[in-house]
Amino acid sequence: MPSPFHFNPFHHISPIGDRVDALFWFLTFISVLITLLVFVLIVWFVIRYRRRNEDEIPTKTPSNLPLEIGWTIATFAIMLVMFFWGAILYIDMKRSPAPAANALEINVVGKQWMWKLQHPGGQREIDELHIPVNRLVKLTMSSEDVIHSFSIPDFRIKQDVVPGSYSTEWFTATRTGRYHLFCQEYCGTNHSQMIGWIDVMTPGDYNAWLAGTAVGESPAVSGAALFHSFGCAQCHGQIAPTLAGLYGRKVLLQDGTTVTADSDYLRESILNAPAKIVQGYTPSMPSYRGQVSEEQLSDLIAYIKSLSPAHIDAGPAPDVADRPTSIPNIPPAKQPPG
Ligand code: CUA
Repeated sequence: MPSPFHFNPFHHISPIGDRVDALFWFLTFISVLITLLVFVLIVWFVIRYRRRNEDEIPTKTPSNLPLEIGWTIATFAIMLVMFFWGAILYIDMKRSPAPAANALEINVVGKQWMWKLQHPGGQREIDELHIPVNRLVKLTMSSEDVIHSFSIPDFRIKQDVVPGSYSTEWFTATRTGRYHLFCQEYCGTNHSQMIGWIDVMTPGDYNAWLAGTAVGESPAVSGAALFHSFGCAQCHGQIAPTLAGLYGRKVLLQDGTTVTADSDYLRESILNAPAKIVQGYTPSMPSYRGQVSEEQLSDLIAYIKSLSPAHIDAGPAPDVADRPTSIPNIPPAKQPPG
């Protein structure tokens, strides 16, 4: 079984991991080469130019300009290779894959001291994530308390999970197996216990696992229920902007700027609506800070996402347009808080 405690160069578990390893080995090779060169020269010069008798006075050595320019340019060039190689890899790792890539989108909530993960179909897991092999997996992560860091050393990925915003991380595992998951940011007493497993399965095994796992409501369905119970539809679509087709669209704000309606924008609007008022509307929405948990926030966003058909990740979307009153089996609306 692969393990981060074993030395596994070029293990070919994830494409990004291979690229990280290639850069790592390049840096190691250059470092070893230069260290050896320096040490060999030191030993050679110590012997070759040693003082041979008490009265010896060394002759003046002329400087060698071409040599000095040569090694300056050579090291500069090597540094530039390191810089661009590292920068390109970093950008590729940090840039979210295109929505068209058909990623398996997993919601992750970190809290002291566990990882809560949810599949698009509603299956929930704690400290363990089952995924199919050779499928792009995209994590949308938030924290309920302090900064955590979601790290899978075998895939060479690590991303801080920060309270108050979403961070994303993605990977494709190309080998089945069981891989360590770590929290890699000190987050309190039991930080070292905040560990788990990534189970990479064949697509068949994954489907069997999905089928055999109790399905809660999918995030979008839970979100629809929340949307209804908070009474959001009393305003949205009437005195507040309609949410159908909103996700991923550009929104024109009161101050004339535009913003893309992504998860962070929706999150901010739920918690602090006055921060970005849509043009033509007045700030009338109360803050839901403290009234919705991180998981409920993700659910609400999943629901709003499901109202933009191009962004439905997987699983059936709830059978609603912009009026949750048409959802079957949803409890009646409570009064909106505030
Ligand atoms: Cu969570 Cu360390």
